[in-house]
Amino acid sequence: MARTTTATAATTAPIVLASNRGPVSFTIEDDGTLTPRRGGGGLVSGLSAIGTEQESIWVCAALSDGDRAAARQGLTDPDVHMLDIDPGTFTRAYNGIANSTLWFVHHLLYDTPTKPVFGANFRREWASYEAYNRAFADALATCAAPGAAVLVQDYHLSLTPSLLRELRPDLRIGHFSHTPWAPPDYYRLLPDDVAAQVLSGILGADRAGFLTERWARTFAQCCEAVLGATVSDSLAVTHEGRTTQLGVHPLGADADFLRERSHRPDVDARLAGLREAVGDRRTIVRVDRTELSKNIVRGLQAYQHLLRTRPEWLDRVVHIAFAYPSRHDLPEYREYTAAVLRTAQEINDEFGTASWQPVILHVNDDFPRSLAAYRLADVALVNPIRDGMNLVAKEVPVVSDTGVALVLSREAGAHAELGEDALTVNPYDVIATADALHAALNMPQEERAARTKRLAEASTALPPTGWFLEQLHALTGDQPEVQE
Ligand code: G6P
Repeated sequence: MARTTTATAATTAPIVLASNRGPVSFTIEDDGTLTPRRGGGGLVSGLSAIGTEQESIWVCAALSDGDRAAARQGLTDPDVHMLDIDPGTFTRAYNGIANSTLWFVHHLLYDTPTKPVFGANFRREWASYEAYNRAFADALATCAAPGAAVLVQDYHLSLTPSLLRELRPDLRIGHFSHTPWAPPDYYRLLPDDVAAQVLSGILGADRAGFLTERWARTFAQCCEAVLGATVSDSLAVTHEGRTTQLGVHPLGADADFLRERSHRPDVDARLAGLREAVGDRRTIVRVDRTELSKNIVRGLQAYQHLLRTRPEWLDRVVHIAFAYPSRHDLPEYREYTAAVLRTAQEINDEFGTASWQPVILHVNDDFPRSLAAYRLADVALVNPIRDGMNLVAKEVPVVSDTGVALVLSREAGAHAELGEDALTVNPYDVIATADALHAALNMPQEERAARTKRLAEASTALPPTGWFLEQLHALTGDQPEVQE
């Protein structure tokens, strides 16, 4: 099923990570050479925290033709083990089950009168998801040293813990969900056998981690409702004689990295460009993947409502929206990107003048430009329908030059830590979001600065290294080392 890099096939390590997206991806250049790039996202920065001192192996999937070629040629580092899974199997598992079914369930994204439909096609995808999870379990069983700690990440790999336990009962297995967890009534949209399989797959782990207590509790409620499992006060879930301890590890922003990176010349240059475009107007900034759960369209509609109902902001504010591409193999994401573009255009057509463009929207990824926007933002808009954590909400206050007012959805995991100093919104309520934007734009400078200081402190309480080591030590029973 999966071929692995020959360079690493015989190696084992005492710490093994597993995730769909790995720390590196390869692009095939026009001349056929392969260029490596560091993988993106909070998951990669969190897991990279393991550093080079500890002996570890990271097992991930080849995501593209470039990755597959690199895996076959053994071009990855010896500590990265890229699984060359059959492309059809991978696509059905990743696009069909992980991103179209499990992601939609956990983020409450279905338009239920027509979707989901669990028919024959779904069953074929599910069989591929099982095969993909088995490929990971086989590879992990091969590269984990006796008694090793194995940390399995996210909804792509919910069956892997129990499959791995069958192969290697000696291992300490952890699973971590970077997403929210669906409440039981919604979770039970899944076919009964699939709903049970996903839960008992994760319960194959010794510990199952979540970003907030809210998501850990909904997982526990699903275990009770679907499996008849028992849950203790300390969130230990017992099912069929085995107990899995749930843990809450709220991943924070990496302050040292962000502060250093956001003052490099490439960021300064982009900041100058943004300042020129904005002039002396206020700024409302958002930075997201173009992701259905991020609620970008309603954010734009809230801004439109603000301009329609509070004319004092005309020509006095600019909404900077960076929505970079994501999961474009799925039609819903392509349509969503089109809706984002359309809505931004509508606002610019309705209110724009020769000298004022109310929305500056970019749909291509440019990390230094995102950091420049973080530094500049008077207001940050983070209004997801539902989000495991949302690291943007945590990063902006850390990087902000002069203080930022954070408008934050109560459905973002980050709200548990940042709610007190943010302006909280119901993500579906466009009028209330417009009101919050108005209040944020009017927040006195002194208050904004004081809130930003507290937001930055809360945001960096558990930096990626600490987040990772906390889980590792909980799994192995070691005392955590003191972090610098
Ligand atoms: C979320 C998931 C990650 C995933 C990331 C990007 O943050 O929790 O597991 O890697 O989205 O999505 P992608 O499909 O591009 O890997």
